[in-house]
Amino acid sequence: MTESPLAPSWLSYPSDTSYLNPVLYSNGTTRQVSGEVTIGTVPVSELAATYGTPLLVVDEDDFRARARGFVEGFNRAFDSLCGGVDVYYASKSLLTVQVARWVAEEGLNMDVASGGELAIALRAGFDPAKIGLHGNNKSDQELTRALQTGVGRIVVDSLSEIRRLAALAESAGVSAPVMLRLTTGVHASTHSYIATAHEDQKFGLSMIPAPGEKRSVAEQAVLAVAEHPHLRYLGLHSHIGSQIFEADGFTAAADRMLNFIAALQTQHGITTAELDLGGGYGIAYTEADRPRAPEDIADSLAEGIRATLQSLTIDCPRISIEPGRAISGPAGSTLYRVGTTKTVWVDDPTGADQPVPRRYVAVDGGMSDNPRPVLYDADYSATLASRVSQADPVLTRIVGKHCESGDIVVRDTYQPEDLDDQDLVLVPATGAYCHVMSSNYNALLRPAVVAISGGSARLIIRRETDQDLFAREV
Ligand code: LLP
Repeated sequence: MTESPLAPSWLSYPSDTSYLNPVLYSNGTTRQVSGEVTIGTVPVSELAATYGTPLLVVDEDDFRARARGFVEGFNRAFDSLCGGVDVYYASKSLLTVQVARWVAEEGLNMDVASGGELAIALRAGFDPAKIGLHGNNKSDQELTRALQTGVGRIVVDSLSEIRRLAALAESAGVSAPVMLRLTTGVHASTHSYIATAHEDQKFGLSMIPAPGEKRSVAEQAVLAVAEHPHLRYLGLHSHIGSQIFEADGFTAAADRMLNFIAALQTQHGITTAELDLGGGYGIAYTEADRPRAPEDIADSLAEGIRATLQSLTIDCPRISIEPGRAISGPAGSTLYRVGTTKTVWVDDPTGADQPVPRRYVAVDGGMSDNPRPVLYDADYSATLASRVSQADPVLTRIVGKHCESGDIVVRDTYQPEDLDDQDLVLVPATGAYCHVMSSNYNALLRPAVVAISGGSARLIIRRETDQDLFAREV
């Protein structure tokens, strides 16, 4: 067998299908001499036997190391600049009560994007002063809860939210700590659904004055917050998008924000104490992705900020960042069991006369535990985890068990030809935006989540049962 003409150009034909690329798998994932994959020394067959499949396996030690990597990398780079960096873990990427505790223990702050995420963080005992609440359409209940619990910052997204928050703070007799989310206009090179700083999308306050207006919505918002007795202006926020590999987008956004901050200072005498540059640091889903280490991005960003500050007459605000995926993503992997397989013969795209094969391997989960391939055309990788095989690699599509042909888990991967019923397949880099985006489509039961630490596994979210399907029926 050889390379398939159906394979995308980024996918290389493997010389050894058992190889685990360290960029893709969590630090604790290795293959034993027996051929079986272990995560934090726990064999995948044991995980499957104890907890069932599909199973989200989170390498807790890896998660914690990545969290520390952001704190240390950014603080080293910003050591002599802007008074250091506060790291807010973007909990939307992966959140359970136990995950929130790891984040607290590693000393990070937390970004929550809804009352539900706030509730989970508080349930974990997370210090509310270290929580930032986001959302483009927060409800009065969410805002009130944030005020009552003493959340450290509320990231306000619109002029109407300023009015609502001010009224709620006034009636509660408190002063609300406000960050304002601005639209910097920086185009992040990523999927359009996860790019967030261009004008024509729902997030943030525009920095460009509307036709006939003197002041942009962003400027109006800062003035409104600074003047209101029940609002406390902390600073500004920008998030350009997600799954971004280069630092230049972050640097460009920082440059625009710092220039805006300087203009606020000179035109209105308003000082901005904090600047949050959001999250979005990319990770490797396939061998084609080349993520940069947090310290590298931090160095480039610090260099850019230093250069911008040289031309301005402001002190640097305290910087914060909100990485989610880059902490939780590579720490997680999903273990599936193979069921049915088949081979189809399709036209050769190069025009050759002979049709070419594509192997379909169906596993026991799919778009309900990982909707990202369907939503964003996301690519993933996989390995046969319960054994090694000497069989030839063949182009394989790993699909789920849902009643939908778009239900793809891994669109293109080379797997040994004898991959078959009962084998275990491990899909890496599923820690972020899988558990939190999982659904009960086709009334599938959502998988359990186990954490692996110090060589042992423990359940942190149990698998759903039929009772969970009936739980909300009236
Ligand atoms: N901060 C803000 C304000 C955000 O909106 C986000 C992500 C983050 C931080 C964290 O971004 P990260 O570092 O995780 O890339 N469901 C999509 C991703 C949506 C991201 C939404 N906001 C996906 O599966 O790719």
